[in-house]
Amino acid sequence: MFRPALEGRTTENQPTRDVSVIDIHHGDNLDVLARFDAGSFALIYIDPPFNTGKPQSRTEMRMVRDEEGGDRTGFQGKRYRTLKIGTKTYSDVFDDYMGFLSPRLEEAHRLLAANGSFFLHLDYREVHYAKVALDQIFGRECFMNEIVWAYDYGARSKTRWPAKHDNILWYVKDPANYTFNFDEVDRIPYMAPGLVGPEKAERGKTPTDTWWHTIVSPNGKEKTGYPTQKPLGIIERIVKVHSSPGDRLLDFFAGSGTLGEAAARLGRDCLLVDSNPEAIEVMRTRLAFAEPRVMDV
Ligand SMILES: C[S@@+](CC[C@H](N)C(=O)[O-])C[C@H]1O[C@@H](n2cnc3c(N)ncnc32)[C@H](O)[C@@H]1O
Repeated sequence: MFRPALEGRTTENQPTRDVSVIDIHHGDNLDVLARFDAGSFALIYIDPPFNTGKPQSRTEMRMVRDEEGGDRTGFQGKRYRTLKIGTKTYSDVFDDYMGFLSPRLEEAHRLLAANGSFFLHLDYREVHYAKVALDQIFGRECFMNEIVWAYDYGARSKTRWPAKHDNILWYVKDPANYTFNFDEVDRIPYMAPGLVGPEKAERGKTPTDTWWHTIVSPNGKEKTGYPTQKPLGIIERIVKVHSSPGDRLLDFFAGSGTLGEAAARLGRDCLLVDSNPEAIEVMRTRLAFAEPRVMDV
């Protein structure tokens, strides 16, 4: 049976905080980015709000044993009470989405190193408009791939095909000079291993531009409680293949800091920017192992 390539946490590496410098900046990204020199970052990944038209919100619950006042029954008939821990929210409503995003895409182009890569993570709502804007900013010849992150979780529409993928656009500054560490590409199982020899089946194959990966499980170890947190497995693949140890990375819509965790665990430096104080607190906790420097801009 074909199984998704990257499930759950993939990095077993010990943190390399002695070599990774992780900076977290709190502020509007346009203000923060203006302070950095052109060409400062080898890899930029951003995952802006998708313009869903409603605030993105996640409420965290915890179950505690309570035989008297419990509101639900669990394993072996034991009674549990549901405690609301807190809600984290950011706005995702825009009158003029491309008017908001375009100047930030221009900043991404300015800040990218001569051999750098830029990844823009969106979904069907805005990706086509963003592709047109990026073709103008980078040049069509600098477009490399549209990566489809496919998952299979949540409600299923009965009136259209359920939308179960995100789109990640990859652009380079220079199509003749960019990082693509082929040897770092992970291997996935063949769909029909019987059709290839046992050696090939054992080794697995390299993924295509469609990446199967579960979402961050609402109950799993990886979840931070921040809405729309992206899976570490997806981001680690990007970091390993499109940057090298010691490089400086940037995510200026950082949320829970997934790029920062991948960078710190893989020996890269990283600047993370977010305007939401709740995101800053989540990152401070999540990245404590890397001793991040946190500043208000
Ligand atoms: C989709 S979330 C990023 C999630 C992140 N990739 C993760 O794995 O957790 C988008 C983030 O952009 C932030 N944001 C929105 N507008 C911003 C702005 N103008 N400057 C900085 N951050 C902004 C929001 O606060 C939110 O945390």
